[in-house]
Amino acid sequence: MLLDSTHADRAATDSAGGPAPDTLLSVRGLRVSVVNGSELVHGLDFDVPTGSAVGLVGESGSGKTLTCRAVLGVLPAGVEVTGGEVRLRGTDLNGVPAAEWTRLRGTDLAAVFQDPASYLNPSITVGSQLAEVLRVKMALARKAARYRAVELLAAMGLHRPEHVYTQYPFELSGGMLQRVLIAVAIAAEPELLIADEATTALDVTVQAEVLELLARLRIGRGLTLIVVSHDLAVIAQVCDTVHVFRAGQIVESGPTRHVLRHPGHPYTRELIENHERFGVDRVRRRRSAS
Ligand SMILES: Nc1ncnc2c1ncn2[C@@H]1O[C@H](COP(=O)(O)OP(=O)(O)O)[C@@H](O)[C@H]1O
Ligand SMILES: [Mg+2]
Repeated sequence: MLLDSTHADRAATDSAGGPAPDTLLSVRGLRVSVVNGSELVHGLDFDVPTGSAVGLVGESGSGKTLTCRAVLGVLPAGVEVTGGEVRLRGTDLNGVPAAEWTRLRGTDLAAVFQDPASYLNPSITVGSQLAEVLRVKMALARKAARYRAVELLAAMGLHRPEHVYTQYPFELSGGMLQRVLIAVAIAAEPELLIADEATTALDVTVQAEVLELLARLRIGRGLTLIVVSHDLAVIAQVCDTVHVFRAGQIVESGPTRHVLRHPGHPYTRELIENHERFGVDRVRRRRSAS
C-alpha cells in the first residue's frame, strides 16, 4: 500500500559511478561535522537528475536535514562541511562566495521546511511578502509583482487568491501557509526545490494535497524535487528514487517502487514494517481522501 502512487513509477537514473549528463545536483563523499567535534554525516553519494523527484527517508536524527542544509549552504552555527563535493550542474558549491550564494538561493535552489509560519513575518500580509520576493529576485515593478503574486497564489491551488494576498499569516491554516511558502520558494523559478518535512505538520488530507501540488509543479514547471521525510508514504507518493538514511549514512538507494517491494537492507525492512504497523490507517485515509 506504500506503492499506491502515480509518480513512483518513473524510471530512475542509475547513480553508480560519476554523474550522468542530465544530473542537476551531484553529491559526492559529503561529510558534515560539529566544528572540532564529531562527524554527523559520514560521506554521502547521491545524484539528483534534472526533472526527477528524489526522496531522502530515515528516522529522526539520521542526517537528512543536515544534508539538505549542506546542499543549500545554510548549515547551523557550529556545524561545517568537512569533506566531499556538492556540484550544481558541475559547479562545486563549496567554492561559491557568500554573495553568490544569495543569488543562488531562490534562483537556482530553494527550500520549504516544516512550520511555515516561522518563515513569514507575522505583521505583513502574505501577498506583500511574496510580492517583495518578486521585486527583489525577479526585478518586477510594484504592480507587476502584485499581479504575479496573485497568479502564483492561484497556481498553488489557493482559492480567492486576491483575498489571500491581503491576509496575514495568522489568518491562514497550516496547509494554506505551506502553499504560500511554496509560492515564495518558487517565485524566482528555481530549478531545484527541497521540501524538508514540509508536510509533516499538516493533517493527512492536507498533506496529500500539498504533495500533489509538488508533484504537479514538477510536471508543469519542470521543477526538480528533493523530498525529505521520516514517512515512507510521503516518499512513495512523490518520488521516483529513494535514498534510505541511517545514522548519517545512506544504507540503501534505488527506484522507490523497487526499494519498497524488495528492501535489501534490514533497516529499510524495519522502516516498512513499522510503517505498516503504525501507518496503515493513515495511508488508507489518505487514499480515500484523494
Ligand atoms: N546544530 C547542531 N549541532 C550539533 N549536532 C547537530 C546539530 N544539528 C543536528 N545535529 C545532529 O546531527 C544528527 C542529524 O540531524 P538531522 O540532520 O537534523 O537529522 P534528521 O533531519 O534526519 O532528523 C543528529 O544526531 C542531530 O542531533
Ligand atoms: Mg530533519
